Amino acid sequence: MSGGMIWPGRKPVKTAAEAKPASAADATAAAPAAKSVPAVKAAPAAETSRLDQKTDLKVELHQNLLDRINLAALESMTREQVGRDIGDIVADMLKEMNHALNLAERKQLVEDILDELLGLGPLEPLLKDPSITEVMVNTAYIVFIERAGRIEETKAKFADNRHLLRIIQKIVSGMGRRIDESSPMVDARLPDGSRVNAIIPPLAVDGPILTIRKFAKTPINMEKLVSIGAMPEACAEVLRAVVKGRRNVLISGGTGSGKTTMLNAMSASIGTHERIVTIEDSAELQLQQRHVIRLETRPANMEGRGEINQRDLVKNSLRMRPDRIVLGECRGGEAFDMLQAMNTGHDGSMTTIHANTPRDSLSRLEQMIGMSGLEISPKAARAQIASAIQVVIQLERLSDGKRRLTSVAEVTGMEGETVLLQEIFRFDRQGIDAQGNVIAELKPTGIRPKFMEYLGARGIHLPPNLFDPYRRLDSAA
Ligand SMILES: Nc1ncnc2c1ncn2[C@@H]1O[C@H](COP(=O)(O)OP(=O)(O)O)[C@@H](O)[C@H]1O
Ligand SMILES: [Mg+2]
Repeated sequence: MSGGMIWPGRKPVKTAAEAKPASAADATAAAPAAKSVPAVKAAPAAETSRLDQKTDLKVELHQNLLDRINLAALESMTREQVGRDIGDIVADMLKEMNHALNLAERKQLVEDILDELLGLGPLEPLLKDPSITEVMVNTAYIVFIERAGRIEETKAKFADNRHLLRIIQKIVSGMGRRIDESSPMVDARLPDGSRVNAIIPPLAVDGPILTIRKFAKTPINMEKLVSIGAMPEACAEVLRAVVKGRRNVLISGGTGSGKTTMLNAMSASIGTHERIVTIEDSAELQLQQRHVIRLETRPANMEGRGEINQRDLVKNSLRMRPDRIVLGECRGGEAFDMLQAMNTGHDGSMTTIHANTPRDSLSRLEQMIGMSGLEISPKAARAQIASAIQVVIQLERLSDGKRRLTSVAEVTGMEGETVLLQEIFRFDRQGIDAQGNVIAELKPTGIRPKFMEYLGARGIHLPPNLFDPYRRLDSAA
């Protein structure tokens, strides 16, 4: 294998120029950063880190390997056999790219490429790159990533949609799930905890679609949320007290607004002596306490039997003597059981919900109670909500890509048929600057929350000036 076949018509002018600087900077770890001059690309030089280039080089090499080798044959070969063959091809390719690597470096590169071929193919370099938080595959040739809150397209691509489907099947079968025409969508989790969703034809019109939310190796904690400007410290202080003092919390927000992250961060304030049961459709939470039992739902099997849903798990958890129940996301009939648990001694429980405002989240809860199949009047449902939930917090992903806490509200009771909800912190939007950043601040409304008294009686004292609307909060943003 050699010569003209390697870069079959792809960007003939760009390739040589592009490959060299990237690989030169990449070849030796000690190479000075000054060498990493991105050719051709219009991106500002400072933004193209060496990490990005390394990913690009591997994607490029991998892509060329895919063009040359018979994927189906790989599956029946051992790693050693594949390694020998690939080693030769990679050596050839590096030579053609005018790329001088020493033996150790080449070995490492071959190992990496083997991981990619035998692992999850073109996804591997993207999954290994810690600066990438989300990978979105929109059929074989279109792969987007999210990095630092921004979405960009990558050079990664699959050989074709069949190749992509094989990788998807590899992921989901490893998790004991399956995907095919008769069951064309699936949620799964990679061994490292990353969350995977796949949906294929006929539901996905153009071909297989894969979305991976990468597992944060070090989860974002409250301190980090404050330091990146997601909320002011004063607000974090209130939330810590609310959790420590066992108030029931509902975290509301859109998809990807940071609900699970917030739930995880807030959970750190739960005492180490408490018994916590977590319930999720696909386990994402990373509670730090030792006394944690993690439960995950199970979909129906091939015959459509054996499904265990969140509701079943909430009910079962009540027999496990939990002090607190943490439900990853409330989306259906389990709302009823969860609220009941909150009302009957499991205070300090928490969950998230998909809604756009705190008020909206309460009506969503009401709808979900309806989904439990029980005959409950709207008024009774609201009364249950009003006595179960004390604090609702709202998260939003703003137009500048930043995820921010935009409201903290307290449920204070019922008046007639209406649940009373009052905002304690409110998001004050002032506008948008020239770079498109949202200028806004989370401010106290001046209302002293009722839970202050409850917390005070349990020895948790918050300085009253936290709620003073004229005091400037130290928002990092
Ligand atoms: N405040 C934040 N700033 C930056 N990234 C965040 C923030 N909160 C969450 N993230 C990241 O955003 C992604 C989505 O967050 P997640 O908590 O899973 O959202 P949700 O549960 O609302 O769908 C994750 O990759 C997470 O690490
Ligand atoms: Mg979530």
